[in-house]
Amino acid sequence: MSVEFTAAPLLFIGALWFLGFGLCLFITRLQHCCFQRLHHGFSQLFFALALIILILFAIAAITGCIVLFIGQGKFHRSSASTLDFVVEQANITVEELRNVSKYLTAAKEIQVDQIFLPPNIQDNIKKVTSKITAAANTLDRETEKNKDKIKHILDLVRIALIIIAAVMLLLALLGVLFSVLGMQLLTYTVVLIGWILITITFVICGLFVILHSVIGDTCVAMDEWVQNPTAHTALDDIIPCVDRATAEDTLNHSKDVTIQLVGVVNTFITNISNRNFPPNAGSLYYNQSGPLVPVLCNPYNSGRTDHNCTSGEVKFDNAAEEWRRYICKVSERGICSTVGRLTPAHYVQMMSAVNLSYALYHYGPFLVKLGDCAFVRDIFTAIIKYHCPGLRCYSKYIYIALALVSNAVMVSVIFWLFYKREKTALGVHQTPYTYIFSGSFC
Ligand SMILES: *[C@@H]1O[C@H](CO)[C@@H](O)[C@H](O)[C@H]1NC(C)=O
Ligand SMILES: *[C@@H]1O[C@H](CO)[C@@H](O)[C@H](O)[C@H]1NC(C)=O
Ligand SMILES: *[C@@H]1O[C@H](CO)[C@@H](O)[C@H](O)[C@H]1NC(C)=O
Repeated sequence: MSVEFTAAPLLFIGALWFLGFGLCLFITRLQHCCFQRLHHGFSQLFFALALIILILFAIAAITGCIVLFIGQGKFHRSSASTLDFVVEQANITVEELRNVSKYLTAAKEIQVDQIFLPPNIQDNIKKVTSKITAAANTLDRETEKNKDKIKHILDLVRIALIIIAAVMLLLALLGVLFSVLGMQLLTYTVVLIGWILITITFVICGLFVILHSVIGDTCVAMDEWVQNPTAHTALDDIIPCVDRATAEDTLNHSKDVTIQLVGVVNTFITNISNRNFPPNAGSLYYNQSGPLVPVLCNPYNSGRTDHNCTSGEVKFDNAAEEWRRYICKVSERGICSTVGRLTPAHYVQMMSAVNLSYALYHYGPFLVKLGDCAFVRDIFTAIIKYHCPGLRCYSKYIYIALALVSNAVMVSVIFWLFYKREKTALGVHQTPYTYIFSGSFC
């Protein structure tokens, strides 16, 4: 990665310009330093030549400013839309994580009788839930913090580039105007301002070359990582992922748990709540009576393939509503005193199992995708495809425009002085203050 190398020539020219021209301006007297040896016999020729060069470089500078102005707009839009895309993806993830943890939290709310969820599963749910909640909070916090920071930086860059484009444009126009009109004081003023601004522009140009390389390197690194997730790439250390086999395993495991949970609930419904037991049947009897409770639809067949629900089965989404109709009032002995097949305690536990199954069914693939970074891979792929080309292109656009502006104005500044001097030498347009300042300045 030759980041420093590419920016070095620009920064070198900038430094050379700053020191060289500064030295020229202040230590030696300008005209002696730079132009004294020109033969006056050639003045007429040089005068015309200088005027042409002056105008050509002014046009180059103005073109550079316009390109810079257009480029900064495109770069800003491109970078802002990239940022928005990433922030949006992060927010969706946060929301989804919060949804998962909501269901998992609901699922672990069982305290009575643990018919469906034994304590060790509840313990695991608690651990996973707190991990997921922590991940969601961290992601949310970091996104918010960095989003504002990056937005702020992008705005600053934009303002800086607009100011450079506007000031350099003004400078190029005024420089030509003042030097052609032979206004000595004003010419020296724009030369002085130009001297500083050109240096600043060179530095910013160098920074944009670095930024361009960083963008390019980042895009390449993302691409390598997307193409080759198992190889050791630059992003491996930053983004920890489980391998595909582990992820697949986890997903299968979560499907198995869903199948088992639904199985346990349905076994309870068919074997206990939907049967009529005599009062001497022990814990199986709680005076259940009335219409039969519909069983829960299992989203998977036993082979983990997808299962379509039949009409007699309730789905995860409407189980809460459907089963509520079968709840009976319980007497103090814990048995139904009204018609119904589920005690409130049964209902709560069945709903907990449903919530857990639903969370696993609905969010399992998402969590697995998060774990094996398929999700990050999708985001990277979209960035590489839709955002990298623009960012690369417009950052290049900007540094080329900056290089054009700084170089054109640099040559212009030299020629403003040269032209003004030639003009003075020819005695054209002598004004009172050319006399005053020619003494003190040169
Ligand atoms: C999260 O849940 C809410 C309501 O339950 C739903 O509107 C939203 O679409 C869910 N978000 C995601 C990303 O699944
Ligand atoms: C199941 O989840 C829903 C939605 O989050 C919630 O409103 C409900 O209280 C949960 N039920 C149980 C019994 O945990
Ligand atoms: C059993 O339920 C029926 C209603 O189906 C009710 O009339 C009866 O009183 C209940 N028996 C007891 C012992 O609560």
